[in-house]
Amino acid sequence: MSGSTFGRQFRVTTWGESHGKALGAVIDGCPAGVSLSEEDIQRYLDLRRPGQSDITTARKEADQCEILSGVFEGKTTGTPISVMVRNADQHSKDYADIAKAFRPGHADYTFFEKYGIRDYRGGGRSSGRETIGRVIGGAIAARILDELGISVCTYTKSIGTVEIQRCDLAERHLNPFYMPDADAAVAAKEYVHKAMEEKDSVGGVIECRINGMPIGVGEPVFDKLDANLSKAMLSIGAVKGFEIGEGFQASLLRGSENNDMFRVSEDRKVVKMTNHSGGVLGGMSDGSEIVFRVSVKPTPSISQTQKTVLEDGSEVDMEIHGRHDPVIVPRAVVVVESMAMITILDLLLQNAVSRIGQIKKLYDR
Ligand SMILES: Cc1cc2nc3c(=O)[nH]c(=O)nc-3n(C[C@H](O)[C@H](O)[C@H](O)COP(=O)(O)O)c2cc1C
Repeated sequence: MSGSTFGRQFRVTTWGESHGKALGAVIDGCPAGVSLSEEDIQRYLDLRRPGQSDITTARKEADQCEILSGVFEGKTTGTPISVMVRNADQHSKDYADIAKAFRPGHADYTFFEKYGIRDYRGGGRSSGRETIGRVIGGAIAARILDELGISVCTYTKSIGTVEIQRCDLAERHLNPFYMPDADAAVAAKEYVHKAMEEKDSVGGVIECRINGMPIGVGEPVFDKLDANLSKAMLSIGAVKGFEIGEGFQASLLRGSENNDMFRVSEDRKVVKMTNHSGGVLGGMSDGSEIVFRVSVKPTPSISQTQKTVLEDGSEVDMEIHGRHDPVIVPRAVVVVESMAMITILDLLLQNAVSRIGQIKKLYDR
């Protein structure tokens, strides 16, 4: 399997399975001299940790990280940073009854057909726990973005049909859905509980806003900023849609409605009068806020009886009794934010050598 690394300059490799001994990430290409502690990473990991409310899986994991390499006296050394999280609360026997069955909507069938062998315990590599490595990478990227004055803010826009009516970021951390609208969070809870009573699951939409990006970040033509963001997002399990700015809505607008007209500000900078583009033009940041959304499907593992087949081809009815989130969205918020931070940092580093003038300045020539 060769798809475990993301990025060219800031390279994040995730490793480990849901029910193996541990999971983690190796980050190569992180500049030296960045202050980094286990607490910096833990803060982000705690946002995706399971077992924190009745709308997340009951699996209890401390998800404590250990930095194994690449940091000395609180600073990155420029060498590969390796970070590990040990698995603790493994109930492998929960999966015994589905060991030979393909869960509808999950990756069991395709993993088995591709490799002829699969770790059925919790989905192995296709488990949501793989995202621990992404969050580790994101937490490290965050340290650098912070120094560059770039902020990334991510929240839940909707759960099923319940959409936020306002965006008060202070309210985001006060409810288990990470919704910046406390009233919508109350309605979302009811919506999820109804699905849970019916042994079912729900999906939702996550929105991400990036501020402080310099102009011109993104590498035409295959590593455009929006192209790389969409790949980063669609690589997260259960993410099924990506849109930036007006997104799909742009197809319904006229050019005169969708174009962002230019003016010159008092301090002689070119500014856009609107932001239908979502902060990206021609695959490069245009200096305005970057705004994108992802859609997350309902959790595939549900306890309703479903029709499926076994590895030997026989048809069966299955019920899934393991511990699963009735909705993935709240725990995916920090994963989306992490992948966004990894993507923009990778492109910021690549952009640093886009002009001969910058290279000469770097080498003092
Ligand atoms: C943070 C996170 C947690 C997840 N938790 C679960 C879960 O508890 N049960 C489940 O069936 N799928 C869960 N998933 C989704 C599966 O990993 C995903 O649906 C599966 O790998 C198949 O990939 P696909 O949906 O992209 O086709 C989770 C995904 C993420 C990102």
